[in-house]
Amino acid sequence: MDKLLIEGGVPLAGEVSISGAKNAALPLLCAALLTEKPLHLSNVPHLNDVSTMLRLLVQMGVDVTLDEKNGLVLNAGGLNKPEAPYDMVKTMRASILTLGPLLARTGQARVSLPGGCAIGARPVDIHIRGLQAMGAEIRVEHGYVLAKAKRLRGAKIFTDLVTVTGTENLMMAAALADGVTVIENAAREPEVMDLANCLNAMGAKVSGAGTDTISIEGVERLSGAQHRIMADRIETGTFLVAAAVTGGRVRLNGTTGAILDAVVEKLREAGARIECFDDAIELSAEAPLNAVSLRTAPYPAFPTDMQAQFMALNCVAHGSAMMTETIFENRFMHAQELRRLGADIEISGNTAMVKGVPRLDGATVMATDLRASACLVVAGLVARGETLIDRIYHLDRGYEHIEEKLSQLGARIRRVH
Ligand code: EPZ
Repeated sequence: MDKLLIEGGVPLAGEVSISGAKNAALPLLCAALLTEKPLHLSNVPHLNDVSTMLRLLVQMGVDVTLDEKNGLVLNAGGLNKPEAPYDMVKTMRASILTLGPLLARTGQARVSLPGGCAIGARPVDIHIRGLQAMGAEIRVEHGYVLAKAKRLRGAKIFTDLVTVTGTENLMMAAALADGVTVIENAAREPEVMDLANCLNAMGAKVSGAGTDTISIEGVERLSGAQHRIMADRIETGTFLVAAAVTGGRVRLNGTTGAILDAVVEKLREAGARIECFDDAIELSAEAPLNAVSLRTAPYPAFPTDMQAQFMALNCVAHGSAMMTETIFENRFMHAQELRRLGADIEISGNTAMVKGVPRLDGATVMATDLRASACLVVAGLVARGETLIDRIYHLDRGYEHIEEKLSQLGARIRRVH
């Protein structure tokens, strides 16, 4: 089991490139199921979750070839097994994103229920209800979603909660449905827009992506396309926080501030100086920062995937911060680990009160989920002495070569086996 060993106290300096977005890549890979023509994706991040999704698609009969450094060509012309088995789905919930495309393309699907995960129960009831509104017959038996539909038909769908992958699943299913589908209370995340842009390049008729009402006029069939995956806004935010909390000065290339306004605003409130360019962001800061209170909510509000990283920032900031998590019911597990480094955090329900302390001291800690791992890396970079982070397979799901990139910025960090 790999671990990360970090010697804290180095202000990050220099520049790195941000990879393609995990949460855009995963639905985009599933979009290949909608056509028998080749879908060419570039700027694909090399992540465990992407490899898991590719293995899942290949066992369905999808042909995958690598082209240049980080490009893929997927061809689902040979799709012959519209199934997502439990042993593959249990390691990655986003496998549920195959349900809509399989149903739309083949008229049937057998997809394992994802099951919960560390941060919450994470049901898929909204995905299922939406597909049923489009005429799918769906049973849930022995942990599998069994779905069939001669041809999905357009429907007006109101999602009770804003759900990112729910919106994406329904958008992909509606692309080949008979008639117009309108999704109300849709997720507005940039990754939803990236998927809509790719679907339209494939010949779909999606409008309103990025707003809370998306309409999709179904077409008979979709063609292939070439699509460059957008930059990862959460990787971007994570590196910005790491640079700010260590009092560093960095330039992040291949990304943009336009996709994470709420995070940029909070970092400015904390005292960081940030300049956004078309294809890069520069940040400089002096430690300690000012504590910043925040409340997570669907885009464009403050993203839940950045809550843990900001908790690390607040642990060593001036003053106290109130942090409220409104999306997931159990997304404060990193607090327990931060306390081992000397943090002062009180949890009550879905709110954490963080009091800044003069310094954190290195210790052995354990990653519990993807963004909690990132939080512990940030804390290790600023703690005095050595921090050893265990179970970093969580980290490898969502961050490409994180220790190489941080070393490029001067961090003393290495992977130990
Ligand atoms: C996506 O997950 C992201 N994953 C998550 O990123 C992110 O944290 C989340 O959106 C919120 O922004 C991908 O895009 C692959 P939701 P998703 O459906 O779609 C409830 C990371 O770290 N809900 O938007 O699964 C749900 O329980 C990951 O990269 C239902 O009740 O999240 C949650 O409370 C973690 N029923 C809320 O809605 C449903 O059918 C929002 O969840 C669907 C969701």
